[in-house]
Amino acid sequence: MKTQQTSESARKMEDMLAISPYNQLALSGVGPIKDVKIFDTTLRDGEQAPGIALSQDDKVRIALALDDLGVDIMEVGFAASGETEKETIRKIRDQNLDTQLCSLARSVHSDIDAVIDTGVDYIHTFIATSDLHMKYKLKMTPDEVRARAVDAVEYAEAHGLKVQFSCEDATRSDLAFMTSVYKAVEEAGAVAINVPDTVGVIIPRAMDHLIGALKKEIKIPIAVHCHNDMGLAVANSIAGVEAGATIVHVCMNGIGERTGNAALEEVALNLFANYGVQTVDLSKIGKTSKLVERITGFNMAYNKPIVGRNAFAHESGIHVHGIMNNTATYEPFLPELVGVDRHIVLGKHSGAHSVQGRLDALKVKFPQEHMPELMEMIKNIAIGGKEIDDAELLAIVDNIMYKKGVTKNRVTLDQLTVLTGKDTTSTATVTVTIDGEDHRTIASIGVGPVDAAINAIRKAVNEKISLEEYKLSAITGKSDSICEVTVMVKNVQNDGNLSVGKAVGLDIVETSVDATMMAINRDFAR
Ligand code: KIV
Ligand code: ZN
Repeated sequence: MKTQQTSESARKMEDMLAISPYNQLALSGVGPIKDVKIFDTTLRDGEQAPGIALSQDDKVRIALALDDLGVDIMEVGFAASGETEKETIRKIRDQNLDTQLCSLARSVHSDIDAVIDTGVDYIHTFIATSDLHMKYKLKMTPDEVRARAVDAVEYAEAHGLKVQFSCEDATRSDLAFMTSVYKAVEEAGAVAINVPDTVGVIIPRAMDHLIGALKKEIKIPIAVHCHNDMGLAVANSIAGVEAGATIVHVCMNGIGERTGNAALEEVALNLFANYGVQTVDLSKIGKTSKLVERITGFNMAYNKPIVGRNAFAHESGIHVHGIMNNTATYEPFLPELVGVDRHIVLGKHSGAHSVQGRLDALKVKFPQEHMPELMEMIKNIAIGGKEIDDAELLAIVDNIMYKKGVTKNRVTLDQLTVLTGKDTTSTATVTVTIDGEDHRTIASIGVGPVDAAINAIRKAVNEKISLEEYKLSAITGKSDSICEVTVMVKNVQNDGNLSVGKAVGLDIVETSVDATMMAINRDFAR
């Protein structure tokens, strides 16, 4: 459902922007752009992306989310593609959404009948008008093509459908012929025409020229439908709007045939940021994008604008420093504007400043004299490209504090010996000291060296402590890689309390033992 934006909320949203002042200067000659409708085709052109196949339930869930986001028109399928598709369209129709629902159809009666059969009342019908398509695909003359287009629009209109008509491959079609087709379908009753850049070959200046020329001849609203084959889908869509188009075809996350369609989130954000045009509820973009990503299984590139994992991730020392002082230094708009989160990640490019910044934000008092060791640990982990999130930073900090005795452990490990090999039962012997005076040396066996060592520690300290979870991950991916171990222990004497220990190191057995000791000490601390 479309949320009404008050002028107060619009102002607040504008405060979240830090865009270039040159944009407004450049736009001084462009007439005011007031109302732009978002025609979403995620469930039609988007689904046509190789590798995506949506079930009926998938489509309904995406339709509900897009409706909640506030798209104006939703192309929910291609009714003539089969009974299942028709059923899916009906199921979406039965959700009583606010969005105008639409189905695609070729300019043939059987396709239009299929749309009528679904009960939606808006149709997007098309026929190709470029010489290339007419000659090699349709094998029809221009006159036959125009007559077919008019017939389709008249037929659909006579059956009570609102019709948007597309000249497929418009951007490679002869302007005079294409204009004659658009004028003819306007006369036949179409409510809007669409100009598809079917294989993504136009440039923004040319789009401006084309829409400007059509605008002189056509009175009904003009839509643009841009593909991204040469990376210009969004720029061309915006150029189309600047030239007078008032409907933009888009897909969430920019999915679609081949390299996709203009991305909904990018078009909507640009329209707001540079033209003050509000379309969808921008704050719902993050969650809608994630839902579409999850359901389609089409993973976004990390560097995808607005919704990619790195869109608001900062790692290098200089950038993190800037962000901490004023987010506008390295962010063109606040992540909350589009409902996503900022991530300050620690990695190969992080400096001590960034690490200290994260520690301050997490309210961790870490002794400065141990900072070199912390930095060294972070760099070692990050060398393989791994990013360190807040939980991992806390685990590393904890580990160092325990090792350095900043946090006092009641249980200390004085000695560890492990015997293991082929056809040998792994055996571990540990010596632990409890509260500085109670020294215990215990041996235990296990299914491997880690199991034997953990069993020996448990036996030596408290057998009522059980190992509930053990997680090992290699961080750098080689035989000398850094590993990370997380251990969760449960103490049945202590109300079944769970304590977690995490350690990072080079040796799996030693790191597992460190993590176990940390968990046990946390249990003791209680
Ligand atoms: O890209 C295209 O030309 C289309 C048509 C069906 C309009 O998707
Ligand atoms: Zn398309």
